[in-house]
Order: sequence, then structure tokens, then C-alpha cells
Amino acid sequence: MEKSLSQIFLFLTTFLLLQILFRRSHASEYTRHPPRPVILTPHKGPDSDPQQVHISLAGKDHMRVSWITADKQVESIVDYGKEPGKYEASATGEHTSYHYFFYSSGKIHHVTIGPLDASTTYYYRCGGSGTEFNLRTPPSTFPIEFVVAGDLGQTEWTNSTLAHVNARDYDVLLLPGDLSYADTNQPLWDSFGRLVEPHASRRPWMVTEGNHEVEIFPIVYPRGFKAYNARWLMPYQDSGSKSNLYYSFDVVGTHIVMLGSYADFDANSDQYKWLEAELAKVDRSKTPWIVVILHAPWYNSNSAHRGEGESMRKAMEEMLYKARVDLVFAGHVHAYERFTRVYNNGADPCGPIYMTIGDGGNREGLAMTFENPSPSISLFREPSFGHGRLRMHNHTHAHWSWHRNNDSDSVVGDEVWLESLSSVTACKETFEGPASSASESSASESSASESSASESSASEKDEL
Ligand SMILES: *[C@@H]1O[C@H](CO)[C@@H](O)[C@H](O)[C@H]1NC(C)=O
Ligand SMILES: *[C@@H]1O[C@H](CO)[C@@H](O)[C@H](O)[C@H]1NC(C)=O
Ligand SMILES: *[C@@H]1O[C@H](CO)[C@@H](O)[C@H](O)[C@H]1NC(C)=O
Ligand SMILES: [Fe+2]
Repeated sequence: MEKSLSQIFLFLTTFLLLQILFRRSHASEYTRHPPRPVILTPHKGPDSDPQQVHISLAGKDHMRVSWITADKQVESIVDYGKEPGKYEASATGEHTSYHYFFYSSGKIHHVTIGPLDASTTYYYRCGGSGTEFNLRTPPSTFPIEFVVAGDLGQTEWTNSTLAHVNARDYDVLLLPGDLSYADTNQPLWDSFGRLVEPHASRRPWMVTEGNHEVEIFPIVYPRGFKAYNARWLMPYQDSGSKSNLYYSFDVVGTHIVMLGSYADFDANSDQYKWLEAELAKVDRSKTPWIVVILHAPWYNSNSAHRGEGESMRKAMEEMLYKARVDLVFAGHVHAYERFTRVYNNGADPCGPIYMTIGDGGNREGLAMTFENPSPSISLFREPSFGHGRLRMHNHTHAHWSWHRNNDSDSVVGDEVWLESLSSVTACKETFEGPASSASESSASESSASESSASESSASEKDEL
């Protein structure tokens, strides 16, 4: 992809008008902390070399390896094994490509490998030759640690967030939407893929879509998501979903539901019916934790994107509440915010904890203005770049921490122990409306230590 950089300049001009059209819909007035420059990451090396390598969980004991080659002759094959340079297994997959106006993508390869052993490092190469990568599979039992980071983009702040993510071990990254901020400028999708490759080729990245993935153009591309669906294929078929825009998967006692804020969600929609059937199937004895990820927050006390998640909340909140979902993560608002357990706009000991974690580091900068005074259901909020970590310790307890970027340091800004609703007796009753009778004291959150502990001391205690 030698042409990438010159393409970027071509597209910057060609799509100026498009950019203006797209931005209009989500322009906002708030003052922002200084964003940092976009990093353009070129491809160095021959066209046949794999680039933009990333992996995702693909059903029990399997992993999907996705990558792109400018050379269309390269085969969709992955060789892998437990020792460097020794590939005892090999798998062949599928490939795709897409056009968007004058842009045509490279060959996009998706190969599923497995069965793989748990907690094991595998060495692999893509397309039969070239660079060796390595990945580690998730464990088979608790504990497991998730990183949660939304609205990443590809700026120097993104790079800083990813460096902090990488500085401490984790198993799976969850991304609540807004990846590349390409906004129809397709070469920026390639640049993003290269920026994240050192991270996304080592640990599974599980994503759902944000508004920056939509890329609808009237008449020509009325359904949108061309780049996103082709490049960031997720295991939707495994969970009976008909769309890459919403799906679910299980990993170590945790059932994760990725919802689509930009797919239909009303009571007649495929997504609604799928979610209803999907939540009914969850077996809390196998997966005591249920975590939902979506883009536009249902609860948000920032002035940015106020009310944008409201129609989805009205359509789906009751379903999540009755299923005793533990946590709901959103992005979209470029700040961090943690709510108490909530249902229907009020504190409820059997409702999910809502968090906004849209502070990965994109070019638009931070959402600085919060509503004053803070609503009582909002417990912690701060406009800073950073990332979150959710460590499931066992069936009943998990630890959440939010790590603020302080340039070269990462600082724990907020942390709290969480208790799974599956183990709260008062929430196990028949699910008929708000659990107003459930005692407040069973409400799961032990006190948040809001003091700043340094990252290094935290990481010494937790080695994973
Ligand atoms: C991004 O981060 C990596 C290491 O984390 C560093 O080597 C690289 O120079 C950074 N790039 C930019 C443009 O800041
Ligand atoms: C789960 O982990 C918490 C926190 O470490 C601990 O207090 C609790 O006893 C553990 N429960 C079981 C069943 O091991
Ligand atoms: C970074 O940490 C230093 C020292 O703790 C502090 O003075 C400074 O305000 C922090 N900066 C940010 C952006 O958090
Ligand atoms: Fe967004």
C-alpha cells in the first residue's frame, strides 16, 4: 500500500464536502481539552506483507485472524503453533474487499484458527510467509481481565492510551464503538488498522459500532457500514444474530452482549427480537456476569450528546433490567462517568451499573461540560483521556478501575468492587417491575476508593 499516503491527500480533498455533511449531524458546542494530532501510520514493506493484523474471539476455543494485503494473490491462510517458527497447524479462511467511491480496499482476509488451548501463547504468520505474530488465548477460569476503551481514533492521545493499555497485562479488549474516525476517508481505516496492530494482533479486540462507523451516503451506500463490516468482522453468527452490528459471546463466566446503537432497536426490529431470545438463553450458573456494550449512552450527565441514547433506552431498558444485567458500558461522550445501579432514571439495587468510557483519545477532544449539580445517580465523572479495566475475580466479585492518561504515566482515577446481581438474593425474585423492595444494602457496591493510587503499585498486586 505504497499509494496510501498519496491516497490520503486525494481523499482529504475529494471528501471535504462529505466531511462537512457528516460533521453537521454531531457537531457540538462544548469547549474541549486540547486534542492532539492525528498519527498517519504508513505500510512499510512489500505489498504481499500482512498489515492491520487483528484477532477476535470466534466461538469456543477459536480465534479469528483478520488482516489485509495490497497484493490480491496472497492466500487466506494462517500457520500457527506453540513455539516460534514451528507451525504445527494451519487453517484456510475467506477473503473479501470493498469499494467506496474511488477507493478500493486491499484483500481482507479472515481465518478462524483452533481449537486452541486456554491461557496459551500461539505464534502465527499470515498468508504463508513473512512476519511472525503472537497471541495469547483467554484463560478457562476466573480471573479474567477486560480492558474497555471507546472512541479511540488515531491521535497521539490514542497512542498514549494504547501504551498504557499495553503496560499492564489483560486478556480481551472491549471497544464500545468509534474506531478509526475515518468518516468516509477510507485510507484512514488502513492507517488505524496499522496503528492498533501491535496491540490487536496480540489480544482479541471485540468491537461494536459507533456513529463514526456508519458512513452512509444517500442512494450510493444507503445501508452504510461497508468498511466496518468488511474489516471488523465479529462472531455474530455464533450467537444467532443476522448482523455484524450486534452479537454476543461468552468468555470465562462472562456473557457479553454487544448492542448496535445504529441498527434498528424498536420492538419489531430484528435486533430487539434477537436480544429477547438471547437474554432468555443466558445460564447464570455458567456465566454469572452479564455485561452489555453499546455506543450512545442511556445515562449521561455530560452536556455532549444529551438524549441521543434515549429512544434505545426506552425500547430496551426493561429487557436488560429483567435479565439482571450487571454492567452497561457506552462510549460516544468523550469523558468518563460511572453511575450507580439504575433503572428507569432512578437508583435501583437490581439495575445495571452504567458507565461511559468514550475517552480513548480521538481527534475531537474531550467533552468538558457536565450538568450541575451532578444528578444523584452519577457517582464519578471526569473529562480526561484514559481506559478502564474490568477484572472478574470469581463468580461473585469483580474489580473495576479507570486509568487516566497522564502523558507517560497512567493513574488510577476511580475504582470500585462490584458484586454480580446473580448472587444478590433480593434480585433473584420474579422480575415484575422495579425491585423497590430489595434492600439497599444488598446493592452490590462496596465503597469506591476515589483516591488516586499509582498504576505501578496497582500492577504489582495484580499480575495476570
Ligand atoms: C506511539 O507509541 C509508540 C510506543 O508506545 C512509540 O514508539 C511511537 O513513537 C508513538 N508514535 C507517535 C507518533 O507518537
Ligand atoms: C470472590 O472474590 C472476593 C474478592 O476477592 C472474595 O472476597 C470472595 O470470598 C470470593 N468468593 C469466592 C466464592 O471465592
Ligand atoms: C499528572 O501528574 C502530575 C503529578 O501527579 C500532576 O501535577 C498533573 O496535574 C497531572 N496531569 C494530568 C493531565 O493529569
Ligand atoms: Fe460517537
